[in-house]
Amino acid sequence: MNSKRILSGMRPTGKLHLGNLHGALNNWVDLQNRQGYECFYFVADWHALTSDYKDTSRIGENTIDMVIDWLSVGLDPDKSTLFIQSHILEHAELFLILSMITPLAWLERNPTYKEMQTEMADRDLSTAGFLGYPVLQAADIIMYKAYGVPVGIDQLPHIELTREIARRFNFLYKEVFPIPEPLLTEVPKLLGTDGRKMSKSYDNSIYLRDRGQILRQKILSMFTDPQRKKKTDPGRPEICNVFSFHTIYTEPHEVTQIEEECRSAAIGCVECKKRLAETISAEMAPVHERQDYYLKHGTLVEDIIFEGTSRAREHAVKTMLEVREAIQVFRGSRS
Ligand code: TRP
Ligand code: SF4
Repeated sequence: MNSKRILSGMRPTGKLHLGNLHGALNNWVDLQNRQGYECFYFVADWHALTSDYKDTSRIGENTIDMVIDWLSVGLDPDKSTLFIQSHILEHAELFLILSMITPLAWLERNPTYKEMQTEMADRDLSTAGFLGYPVLQAADIIMYKAYGVPVGIDQLPHIELTREIARRFNFLYKEVFPIPEPLLTEVPKLLGTDGRKMSKSYDNSIYLRDRGQILRQKILSMFTDPQRKKKTDPGRPEICNVFSFHTIYTEPHEVTQIEEECRSAAIGCVECKKRLAETISAEMAPVHERQDYYLKHGTLVEDIIFEGTSRAREHAVKTMLEVREAIQVFRGSRS
């Protein structure tokens, strides 16, 4: 069996929201369930240190919360290898070696480097670790000889750097690494409740954990077409975030109906949002059931992580033998 290896990771930001689900997780689950792919997904907890090294108190808790959400949306530990970056020390070794061969200029001109510094102006990001963020990411990816890396468009510069670093290693020493491809997916444009990008830091997120009254309340508070001040004003579904959610969660014939009724002012926004709350609640019910199960069975989640990490480590150990041989460090006859 010659399956294509898929690898992706997420920083442990804690509980995930619908933006994460439609932007990444659904795609991960989809790849896992397709024939011919072998998927590795991991928690990039060392990457979290690059921006949060001053307060690390939540990294552990966030890690487990995130894995529980992964499992609840359908990542299946029998099909995918789920692991924690910091539990596989080989990542640190490969990072070290790759940083030896990565020209500083490649990192300094990385567009996300400056962007993140502007975006997170409240943190001190002038560390070697932060500049080296993409080198660690390159190590994560090529360690498993990944063929495809499903990521959002914001991560493209990092995948491009990974490709350059892998090529440079192969050129300097030995053809150890296949050159990975980014796998971009069409992502539906779902915004937060206030119409900005859904983000934990904006307090506008609908979380996978939200249910019942909280979920309903959040949906009822969503911004709609600002031109619809009164119920008699015709609406513009094409610019309405509530409508975008309907296109994902509601039956197609009902979506068409809502579209018409919005344009002709036959339906009010409150009614429209109530209907959305119903469909999202129904759609999320099985996810919430699995969440409850895993929240009750904490040691099971730990077992899953432990097992996945052991499986991933076998690959990492093998790759590092090749790497050490390629760079010709002394190994002697006893190792
Ligand atoms: N940088 C990625 C992000 O912020 C997380 C990440 C770390 C990653 N290592 C990776 C993604 C390897 C894909 C492959 O989302
Ligand atoms: Fe948006 Fe629905 Fe209101 Fe139309 S009726 S503007 S789709 S919330």
